[in-house]
Amino acid sequence: MTLEDAQQLDEADPLAFARERFQLPESLIYLDGNSLGALPAATQSRVDRLIAGEWRVDLISSWTKHDWIDAPLRIASKLAPIVGAKPNELAIADSTSVCLFKLLSAAVRARPGRRVILAQQGNFPTDTYVAQGLAEMLRLELRLVPADHIGNAIDEQTATVTLSHVDYRSGARADMRAVNDAARAAGALVVWDLSHSAGAIELRLDEAGCDLAVGCGYKYLNGGPGSPAFMFVAERLQDELRPPLQGWFGHSEPFAFEESYRPTSGISRFLTGTPSIIALAALEAGIDTFEGVAMADVEAKSRALLALFIEQVERRCGGEVSLFGPRDLEARGSHVCFAHPDGYAVIQALIARGVVGDFRAPDLMRFGFTPLYTRFEEACRAGDILADILANREWDQPRFRERKKVT
Ligand SMILES: Cc1ncc(COP(=O)(O)O)c(C=O)c1O
Repeated sequence: MTLEDAQQLDEADPLAFARERFQLPESLIYLDGNSLGALPAATQSRVDRLIAGEWRVDLISSWTKHDWIDAPLRIASKLAPIVGAKPNELAIADSTSVCLFKLLSAAVRARPGRRVILAQQGNFPTDTYVAQGLAEMLRLELRLVPADHIGNAIDEQTATVTLSHVDYRSGARADMRAVNDAARAAGALVVWDLSHSAGAIELRLDEAGCDLAVGCGYKYLNGGPGSPAFMFVAERLQDELRPPLQGWFGHSEPFAFEESYRPTSGISRFLTGTPSIIALAALEAGIDTFEGVAMADVEAKSRALLALFIEQVERRCGGEVSLFGPRDLEARGSHVCFAHPDGYAVIQALIARGVVGDFRAPDLMRFGFTPLYTRFEEACRAGDILADILANREWDQPRFRERKKVT
């Protein structure tokens, strides 16, 4: 693959138009949208409008005048075509960790007498910590098994299963249908973490028989740093489940100010407290970058970008780096890790050359490909720059070994 070949792929790209929906510094090749999505072009004016045109002018009456009160569900409904769910199965709230706690505990509570939470070994640590805390609190057993053994490990003792759809390191994509079917047959519920899938690949949550899911708003959904997360609760489960983090936003009549909690019906009962309206405005601008975009095109481009980058890196870098995770692109999400013993220093050297990836301990250099804005030309150039840095040992400098707080 030459640079000219890659440029031709960009010219034929049906998603090329979407790049203009973002403000990206032209001096950077940004391959970290799986950690923090790029700034959508509309975000700043959207947030400015909310502050200057709504909050400043209408103050408290904005909750009804500008419909702030329904924002978490209204904006969530725009996610429906992105994740393959019904609009009334989604809510925006809290952080991914908190949403996971809410859904995991609601699921466990709905299966009394079952003692086991089955969770993915090596999942993103926050998922494991949340499950550990819940198991300790409720005196349940937390059983950790590798993602590809989860389906077989589900039994009649399993209350709830939790795993990532796409693994944050290996990029491996779990078989959603198979895990859901195994859980359903055993009477257990599944909570998926979609942080590395939503907005990057095609999802069909309803068709795959999903029960529950959570995911980040700040990665491929471009909601901005610390953006609220999203929850999916299948319609058939909404009135059966009761999240234990009870707050007035999940009450039947919040403004009746009753002494006792009466959960409302539907997805609203999974809300807890007052949402951050400014953060929601930014997230809405992020989700709107998918307007008119077919998720099948997103997935196809993700695969083509990965194919190009992997081929380029393996051809140019020889045996210096090794691909981590599945080679089969259909079994992957939209990022790829290469292992290198000095991966941290290599990533710092790449960043110094304008190629932004990140590092995941112990030795993984991670590169995310965001189909809405990553160009084929960038994937090609990034592979060349990596090869150059390795060939010249450019990474082998004390300044690149200094560990930062965020890697
Ligand atoms: C799979 C996964 N889940 C959750 C999180 C983060 O959760 P939170 O938004 O609560 O910090 C991440 C962050 O990278 C992640 O990769």
